[in-house]
Amino acid sequence: MVALARSPRPPDAEVSSFETDVLAGLGATPKRIQAKYFYDGAGSQLFERITEQPEYYPTRSEMRILSEQGADFAKLIPEGAALVEFGSGSSKKARIMLKAAPKLAAYVPVDICGEMIEQEAIDLRPDFPGLKVLPVTADITKPFELPEEAKAAPVRVGFFPGSTIGNFEPHEAAAFLRNAAQILGKGALMIVGADLIKPADTLNAAYNDAAGVTARFNLNLLVRINRELRGDFKLDTFEHHAFYNRERHRIEMHLASLKRQRVKVAGESFDFRAGETIHTENSYKYSVESLGALARGVGWLPVGAWTDPDKFFSIQAFKLGETVTRASF
Ligand code: AVI
Repeated sequence: MVALARSPRPPDAEVSSFETDVLAGLGATPKRIQAKYFYDGAGSQLFERITEQPEYYPTRSEMRILSEQGADFAKLIPEGAALVEFGSGSSKKARIMLKAAPKLAAYVPVDICGEMIEQEAIDLRPDFPGLKVLPVTADITKPFELPEEAKAAPVRVGFFPGSTIGNFEPHEAAAFLRNAAQILGKGALMIVGADLIKPADTLNAAYNDAAGVTARFNLNLLVRINRELRGDFKLDTFEHHAFYNRERHRIEMHLASLKRQRVKVAGESFDFRAGETIHTENSYKYSVESLGALARGVGWLPVGAWTDPDKFFSIQAFKLGETVTRASF
């Protein structure tokens, strides 16, 4: 779906139903469009630029934990294990893990964009000559088969960095972890990057950067609808709104209509009141305890948590308990 660097692919990536989903979402009350549709070529590039903004700390904080404490959590990984990265994109973070844990025998990047991970595999192999790199093209929210060599490893270690778990609704995050448990199997470990709950000012600034990159990222959704679905959204009549919802521990992103207007998409008309919004993204923030409780509920037992010195971001490790319930989204 995205042929660019890292697509922080929100969760249930699929492209074929863009028109159906957009028409249903604009016809719903309140209006909403799923965050996975942000990531066309321009959206992926804008996301890369977001990660470089001074206010957007998550990527920097996570990279810092991986670089400074990677050796510490690599100790959890047994000899000969296979690392399975969910939504791997450009494998930038996995490279740090692979360096920190030379006892890994195999790396399985899993992504919906087959072309990108095949290319990443070609780039990785010369840098890690002893490692089997076994890419799998799949939707990470659905059941999929691991390559035989990964199944034969003594243990499989799931890796889900980037705080993408926060773009799931909590029940979807639980279903994702349940599905991952079934894929990884007995004795598995799971290492997850999650953004932490913190003062609203820091969160609000991160999603309202002064350079306006996040605003452009949000508005790019309308550009995409205009281009791909014969939309006639006038971009200067919509505004980026992002705010921290304290009760639900989440950043909400919306596109707000600045006036009463009618918009056409794929031949259908949609009316907006002045101030009415399209809800485009939730980004849930967790505490170490709240993510631990969610994971425990689906059979993953917390075995470690690492944070950056500001306690902005966490990398949390879980081990599979004995009982796993069936996954369902
Ligand atoms: C991909 N994901 C973890 C980002 C986030 O922070 O929820 C997406 C994003 N949206 C706006 N800025 C970044």
